[in-house]
Amino acid sequence: MTVHKPHQGVRETDGPSTSWFAGVLRQALHRDDPTVSTCRKLSRHVYRLTLATGRPASVVMKRLDPATAHRDRLLVQRWLPAVGLADIGPSLLATVSDPAGDGAWSIYEGLDGHILDQLHPDPEEVDRLVEVVASLHVRFARHPVIAEIRHHGAHLGYGAYVGHLNDAAQALTAVRSRSDVRAHLPSALLADLERVVCRAREDAPSVLALLDRVGGPDTVLHGDLWPKNVMAGPGWLRLIDWDQLGVGPAIYDLSTLLLRLPRGSRRPVLDRYLGHIAAAGWPRPTVDEVVLLSTAAERARLATLAAWRVLDILEAPTGPVAAWAGDELQSISTWWKEIDPRPEEVTATAR
Ligand SMILES: Nc1ncnc2c1ncn2[C@@H]1O[C@H](COP(=O)(O)OP(=O)(O)OP(=O)(O)O)[C@@H](O)[C@H]1O
Ligand SMILES: [Mg+2]
Repeated sequence: MTVHKPHQGVRETDGPSTSWFAGVLRQALHRDDPTVSTCRKLSRHVYRLTLATGRPASVVMKRLDPATAHRDRLLVQRWLPAVGLADIGPSLLATVSDPAGDGAWSIYEGLDGHILDQLHPDPEEVDRLVEVVASLHVRFARHPVIAEIRHHGAHLGYGAYVGHLNDAAQALTAVRSRSDVRAHLPSALLADLERVVCRAREDAPSVLALLDRVGGPDTVLHGDLWPKNVMAGPGWLRLIDWDQLGVGPAIYDLSTLLLRLPRGSRRPVLDRYLGHIAAAGWPRPTVDEVVLLSTAAERARLATLAAWRVLDILEAPTGPVAAWAGDELQSISTWWKEIDPRPEEVTATAR
């Protein structure tokens, strides 16, 4: 789930040609001969290019908005090195502005590895991932560079929790006053979304009190910690795709990881991660508290997603974007009820 992208911010274009990529690479890498032998589209704005000569043997180019590309560069050049974690981040070689438009391209060395298997993750890789994530959280929490990162990154902390729920509530209220929009959306769906968001807002004070008690300090968050954003190979592991980087409590990342891992892999992750943060002197929440805060974090992400989709529909109530956004709202209502970050072994008395 990509949470923070409004539809109008995602420009669909045909991919650039191989010769266009070669020209950009020539300039960006200061090389005369980047003959591109193959070009493969990996995702909507991401391409893998194999180079016929020299090193690196391949690069990955990702089209981003300029602010995100700039932040990516700061992450690699300033922030991760500041806490001694330069080797856990993206393999960024260069950033160039898009000569054809208002975007930018981040150029990464093509990593010769694989993404973490979401269904059957390798336990050793999961262990390494937990070490990396815990180090990221603990080291940045005590480093003054966090002030700079807070300026550039998303605000995912204490105040943002209620903000995300309020945004969704406001968006849904706006739909109620627009009969042209209501005509295209099932009323049961809108009522259902309003109900769950409203209940989450009622529960917010107790969630925030718990967060205050056991959430630990604000730190740097990857922001989209799915296994698919983790690449590994023999003896190494890197977190890629930092497009959602932010600052807030570590549970934000931990919740994403727990929710995207198979239930059977969650308990070792949790025990290991909590051991790390307890060793750093942070409060150690119980399993039940982690489950509660993880559910809240996921609800906040879904609330943001719902607000974006409503915004899409309000701007163009009919047409393909509205139809897609309506389907997304239906999915959000289902996902909301399915949130379940519990590890397998949890019982009512587990602590
Ligand atoms: N440096 C790299 N080397 C090799 N493969 C890479 C590299 N960077 C990204 N990839 C591959 O490209 C895929 C998409 O990259 P990335 O996650 O940055 O883009 P995305 O558009 O945000 O994708 P998604 O929305 O699927 O997360 C990754 O899942 C990974 O398989
Ligand atoms: Mg990704």
